[in-house]
Amino acid sequence: MSPLFERLGVKYPIIQGGMAWVAEAHLVAAVSAAGGLGVIGSGHAPADYVRTQIRAVKAQTDRPFGVNVMLLSPHVEEVIQVIEEEHVAVVTTGAGDPARYVPRLRAAGSLILPVVPSVALAKRMVRSGVDGIIAEGMESGGHIGSLTTMALVPQVVDAVDLPVIAAGGIADGRGIAAAMMLGASGVQMGTRFLSAQETQIHPNYKNAVLKAKDVDTLVTGLYVGHAARVLKNPMSRAYLKMERQIAISGTDDYAGVEELGNGALRRAVQEGDNEHGSFMAGQVAGMVDHVQPAAAIVDEVAQQANQLLMNSPVASAWLQ
Ligand SMILES: Cc1cc2nc3c(=O)[nH]c(=O)nc-3n(C[C@H](O)[C@H](O)[C@H](O)COP(=O)(O)O)c2cc1C
Repeated sequence: MSPLFERLGVKYPIIQGGMAWVAEAHLVAAVSAAGGLGVIGSGHAPADYVRTQIRAVKAQTDRPFGVNVMLLSPHVEEVIQVIEEEHVAVVTTGAGDPARYVPRLRAAGSLILPVVPSVALAKRMVRSGVDGIIAEGMESGGHIGSLTTMALVPQVVDAVDLPVIAAGGIADGRGIAAAMMLGASGVQMGTRFLSAQETQIHPNYKNAVLKAKDVDTLVTGLYVGHAARVLKNPMSRAYLKMERQIAISGTDDYAGVEELGNGALRRAVQEGDNEHGSFMAGQVAGMVDHVQPAAAIVDEVAQQANQLLMNSPVASAWLQ
């Protein structure tokens, strides 16, 4: 196992992606207790919420866990302060450069792992003094860049001298083994954990993930400037139609369509609202077809990856 994960003391180099509204204490504690690394999704939540979640995880497990910080959140300063005070083992970051927080987080004992969609951003993060890079491909659920995991991971591995964690499109041991072959030191999975028993999302959301096929996601926000992969539903179709119409009209006034998207993930998670909610999920939703405890997911994918990497039928076939 990579020294990064050894330092953390986890059993498997498997990170459960910090998902806003979705990744709260029940799921995070279950993943960490099972030997992975659970990560609380703090999204745009206020600091009090984040502290409550951190303490709820600590009450359930003494294993390491993380917090995902959205650097564009209006509460980012207070959230960072809570993380410092609570000495959280890992901080993953999205939507920006965590450079200004690195010294404080480091002093509080946190490892910092930014999520990046490109080689240029990965290099910039290295200069910011982070501990590893999560390279996330556009197969993934939630906000995305434009490169696939297959193309992005080896290029980031070649470009930086830090451990790289592959994210996007990984839902089982085959994906983990493939990511390790690309040079990753570990993986981050989000969509697979949407189906975990402990995941507190509305049944409409969970069922939509379980029913989804390979082609059932689409990307909204490409024109608006923050692309996100979500399940096809009335909301995502309406959003896409509206932003395309604006793009074609040439007015470039996206205020109305942005308004449509505000709070849409919360409406999906809490209300299961198919008309107005964004059911964020990745392309691997088509591989997720039953509910299991998070521990069973972690064990299953880790054992499958172990078998493939230790005794690979692919390697034997290649060598023949
Ligand atoms: C519902 C949902 C919400 C997400 N929210 C966040 C977030 O708040 N911050 C973040 O850095 N990544 C977020 N992600 C991305 C995940 O952390 C993870 O990197 C991604 O899901 C991995 O790809 P996969 O979905 O193919 O497994 C989200 C993903 C999903 C599915």
